[in-house]
Amino acid sequence: MNMLTEESRIAAVHERRLRSAAQAWWLEQPDDEFAQAALRTCDAIDSELADEVERLAAEAKRLGVGVGFEASAKAVSQTMLIVARPADDAAMGPLAEMLADLDYHGWETAMGPARVFTSTGDSTFMIDVESAGGFRSQVWRLAEAAKTRLDRSGNDSIGPYLGTPTSLIPALVEFAGITDTDTMVDLGCGDARLAVEVARQTGATTIGVENDPALVARAKRKIHRSDVADRVKVELADATSYDLRGITVVMLFLPAPIAAAQVPGIRKKMDPGARLVAHEQAPIEHQLPPTESKVLLARNAITVGHLWSS
Ligand SMILES: C[S@@+](CC[C@H](N)C(=O)[O-])C[C@H]1O[C@@H](n2cnc3c(N)ncnc32)[C@H](O)[C@@H]1O
Repeated sequence: MNMLTEESRIAAVHERRLRSAAQAWWLEQPDDEFAQAALRTCDAIDSELADEVERLAAEAKRLGVGVGFEASAKAVSQTMLIVARPADDAAMGPLAEMLADLDYHGWETAMGPARVFTSTGDSTFMIDVESAGGFRSQVWRLAEAAKTRLDRSGNDSIGPYLGTPTSLIPALVEFAGITDTDTMVDLGCGDARLAVEVARQTGATTIGVENDPALVARAKRKIHRSDVADRVKVELADATSYDLRGITVVMLFLPAPIAAAQVPGIRKKMDPGARLVAHEQAPIEHQLPPTESKVLLARNAITVGHLWSS
């Protein structure tokens, strides 16, 4: 069996065993560039994750918040997942405040107060809070099943805010084949990092669509500060009903089941010849098989890109 097919790379990412797979590939073919790059990326992720755990622990100690942090066993060297264990329920409030001050965003669940926190600097971290009583947050799994709304802003949410790690953007641009003749829209654009960076890296015209007013305000500030403000705009709108006429590239970064549910409707609304690119580390159960799927590696981040083109 050829160990180095794209399918085997994608399976290794989906099954969270990229490091062990890449080690095996590297032993078999020491010159294999993908195996070398994957191992470097896993190392960088491990080290960033350890630094963040240390930073959080130091801050908790400084503030006297009773909580332990560790890299999640689910992380398996290819994602930035942290488990927080508050000493008791009384520590939850101070923990939430501490994380908010560190720019983490807490997510509400029908089952209670925020148990999942996401941070979106250049890298993205997710903290899963395990309560003193042993209740482990199920919010992410529930969101993945698209049964619960994570977002505080209402029922039309297609997912929480978690930014694409900025280091991945060049790989996404290359995968999508974006050029200065394209008009790209990012549906659910967060802080518009994709819109700004794609415009900067390719010369394309870009639009971000976002329904959270606070994120739209942040996106506008980012665009204003950039050197591509004449080609980038953000709109406060519902991405699910956005008019896609005239758009040549649609970008999506959403929890996998939500992305899968959105793809057929988006494809139907797109102009002939336009392409759709979605990325996610988890498998997207496609009703519409993509034209191409590929593992995208960056210095400190991994994703699987899916391209639908007609
Ligand atoms: C996973 S984030 C992706 C952010 C950005 N695309 C990126 O890759 O950095 C999903 C975003 O979709 C936004 N969102 C959720 N439901 C939406 C809707 N119905 N219309 C517009 N934006 C929505 C969320 O507020 C969040 O910012």
